[in-house]
Amino acid sequence: MSKNTSEKIKFVTSAARPLTGELRVPGDKSMSHRSVMFSSIADGTSHVTGFLQGADAMATLNSFRAMGVEIEGPVNGELTVHGVGVDGLKQPQIDIDLGNSGTSIRLLSGLLAGQSFPVAMVGDASLSRRPMGRVADPLRLMNADIETAEAGRPPLKLKGGAQLKAIDYPTPMASAQVKSCVLLAGLYADGVTRVKEPAITRDHTERMLSAFGVEIGKDDQGWISIEGGQRLSACDIDVPADISSAAFFMVAASIVPGSELLLQHVGINPTRTGIIDILQLMGGDITLENQREIGGEPVADIRVKAAQLKGIHIPEHLVPLAIDEFPVLFVAAACAEGETILTGAEELRVKESDRIQVMADGLQILGVDAQPTADGMVVRGAGLSGTVSGGAFGGGRVMSDHDHRIAMSFSVAGLRSTAPIEIDGCEIVATSFPNFVELACKAGFGLQAVEENE
Ligand code: S3P
Repeated sequence: MSKNTSEKIKFVTSAARPLTGELRVPGDKSMSHRSVMFSSIADGTSHVTGFLQGADAMATLNSFRAMGVEIEGPVNGELTVHGVGVDGLKQPQIDIDLGNSGTSIRLLSGLLAGQSFPVAMVGDASLSRRPMGRVADPLRLMNADIETAEAGRPPLKLKGGAQLKAIDYPTPMASAQVKSCVLLAGLYADGVTRVKEPAITRDHTERMLSAFGVEIGKDDQGWISIEGGQRLSACDIDVPADISSAAFFMVAASIVPGSELLLQHVGINPTRTGIIDILQLMGGDITLENQREIGGEPVADIRVKAAQLKGIHIPEHLVPLAIDEFPVLFVAAACAEGETILTGAEELRVKESDRIQVMADGLQILGVDAQPTADGMVVRGAGLSGTVSGGAFGGGRVMSDHDHRIAMSFSVAGLRSTAPIEIDGCEIVATSFPNFVELACKAGFGLQAVEENE
């Protein structure tokens, strides 16, 4: 269910102290979605720990409940999922409401395209303006009957009852959601479905399907293949902390002099670690400790110390590996010495918001020289030459535009602002990081959530 949007929350920043201590951010959003999807269609009972109890992953969970899957929990991030098998889902009695979650709607369209029953999927204001042609197009090639609203936007309606056929599909954009959609439809197709991407994207679908016993191949040309008709066997999944949530604290500790934070049990899958590489290229002091592998995914504790960052031209090959981290990287860039240039990131324009425009607008309100471009941004940082108090931002009122990561990024800017920053629309933070304010304040942020009655 999408959150009650009549409850409005504004964040207000105030003076911070250096960030210190150890903390564990909530579970990985991408893996939490997949843990529910795959355990629901597996044979047998699966246990999940570390599940993200945020609105997005709960939207996925509720949609499987609506399709007849019995799921116990979540309690403290633990779930027990009684899988119904690849052919055991039932027609939902209502439209499936996926709230703000692009991952849910795009992966579910693949997973549900080959079912025998019809289903309609809807979302909130942000999701309703996001492009779904990127999943509808390959699904149609596979023989699915799928309808979108005007210009390929949600709602998405699947007619059901189609026998899917395998395709070879080079994805037009680097998108793990599109890749995953096609692979999941491939599970229900006749023959071997193959996907190839223009740049490597997160591979949690491939890793987790393997953990459920599905054979999934990758050849030396980059084609990822899956044969239809395979069944999944239940397994236990331990979801590590989300590197995309840890990213706010990585930037925060980097930009506040005197900080040292230890972020515990963070997933460091190499398709997700662009944030670490980029901050290190900017001069960030970040080290990985206690590296280990849990359930087929690499995990580490990440130590971050304050450092004077410098501007760089971000290498384009790192863009898909840090795709969710650019809002907070723009904040880091505003604190760096010199110019930071981002190119090759036009995908940012079709995220939960247009992250190039919304961040540039907000940064400009806060007095930062941030120039949006078609596929990125140029940010001239304050470096050490900010105001006497070390400020890199002025105060002001900025908007989240229904985007959790924008709201949290401006909270991080508040650590180096000369006056309070007010951020409107912060109820959306609950989609990925329900205890953000609590953890941030524990680490040393000055941050208050204020309820606003309309
Ligand atoms: C996700 C893939 C990415 C990312 C999103 C989660 C996933 O989207 O931005 O937050 O779990 O597969 P795209 O595939 O559209 O790049």
